[in-house]
Amino acid sequence: MGGGQLWRRVLADLHSVITTTGPMSVASYMKHVLTHPLHGYYVRQKPLDNDRGDFVTSPQLSQMFGEMVGAWTVKEWQLSGKPTSVNFVELGPGTGLLMHDIIQSFTSLTKQEANVVTDVHLVEASPVMSQQQYETLGCGQAPDLSNVDLTRNEEYLTGRGHAGINFHWYRHLWALPKLPGFTFLYAHEFFDTMPTHQFQLTEDGWRERMVDVCDEAPHQLRFVLSPKETVQSKLYASLPLVRTARVGDVGEVSFEAMEQAELVAHTLATSTMGGRALIFDYGDTTKFDDTFRAFRDHQQVHVFDQPGSADLTTDVNFDHLLVAAARSHQVVSHGPVTQRQFLLRCGLQQRADALLASTTDAKARASIEKHTRMLTDPDEMGERFKVMAMTDANADHTPVLFD
Ligand SMILES: C[S@@+](CC[C@H](N)C(=O)[O-])C[C@H]1O[C@@H](n2cnc3c(N)ncnc32)[C@H](O)[C@@H]1O
Repeated sequence: MGGGQLWRRVLADLHSVITTTGPMSVASYMKHVLTHPLHGYYVRQKPLDNDRGDFVTSPQLSQMFGEMVGAWTVKEWQLSGKPTSVNFVELGPGTGLLMHDIIQSFTSLTKQEANVVTDVHLVEASPVMSQQQYETLGCGQAPDLSNVDLTRNEEYLTGRGHAGINFHWYRHLWALPKLPGFTFLYAHEFFDTMPTHQFQLTEDGWRERMVDVCDEAPHQLRFVLSPKETVQSKLYASLPLVRTARVGDVGEVSFEAMEQAELVAHTLATSTMGGRALIFDYGDTTKFDDTFRAFRDHQQVHVFDQPGSADLTTDVNFDHLLVAAARSHQVVSHGPVTQRQFLLRCGLQQRADALLASTTDAKARASIEKHTRMLTDPDEMGERFKVMAMTDANADHTPVLFD
């Protein structure tokens, strides 16, 4: 079935699930639409494709972004006593460009010490995306993954790529082995794809927003409020910070994002030499807004419009990630700081100035200026995106730029 028709199959599936078992949570809807093993959006589409993609991310916009993350990594590696065995881990690596740029920057800044990075572990739900990552990371032509069993929790692809590094792909973070050495873990626009529950505060307390079929328009979907509390609405009501909400407010929580944050903490804590994590995403501390939205072809569309043909996302609640990390008792969290603060303190403006000084080409100069603005301006990505760090509990310093 062609990509243009696939959404009809997704919608038919959603209908049969809902009519059989009743309205589904927004989180179940997101999970079904985004990562269903047969026809999930991320499993079948190339959302970051240059020509036909639906959205663009910072690593795609400019190489300077990955260079800054690489520069941070080098400084942090030096401050941590230059551990001789280093792993990189990335959650949801997209096209693989961020990891590519971090490796390039790490190897060029550390020169002969570069071969300390021996293994890179990538957590990716989509075989289509992992094939693209395989090629971006210099492993050669990607093998056919159409028969990969996505329900199995083990390494499903390996390759040897740039700088002689071994690359490993997994479906879930919990499938990673205990890592020997020091670990740097990155997640960029990963947590915003995690299935999110939505609730509304009514006179009777928090009620969960559910997705139901439409009686009057049989091929459409609609939101309904659960008439009673759900297990999730009770859990949400027990979280710190929800008590300031007023009747009518919409609350959101992604228990899967919290679980992933705990797994990140566990990965750092069980790496034999400890480690650091950097999490980049749009979001904020606790707010009572409806942030559930869909993007197709760089336009915002309705979340029920042709499900499976558009990306679905919600803002990340950094308070919830901090709660989950603290609950693990395995790491110390830092931030979040704004992307603007992080990139400017990493030296983005100086890098942009150096690039501008190296070219007289008007088009290239305009593009450097435009991308610097997009990454750092408060009205663009500068303040909507936040950066949070985690260090293993034995770290002897606050990570660079988080002091
Ligand atoms: C919004 S894209 C971000 C890509 C990349 N980090 C970037 O910023 O360009 C989300 C990425 O996470 C992957 N992904 C989404 N849900 C996932 C899940 N539940 N488990 C693992 N990977 C997932 C997608 O296939 C994609 O690579």
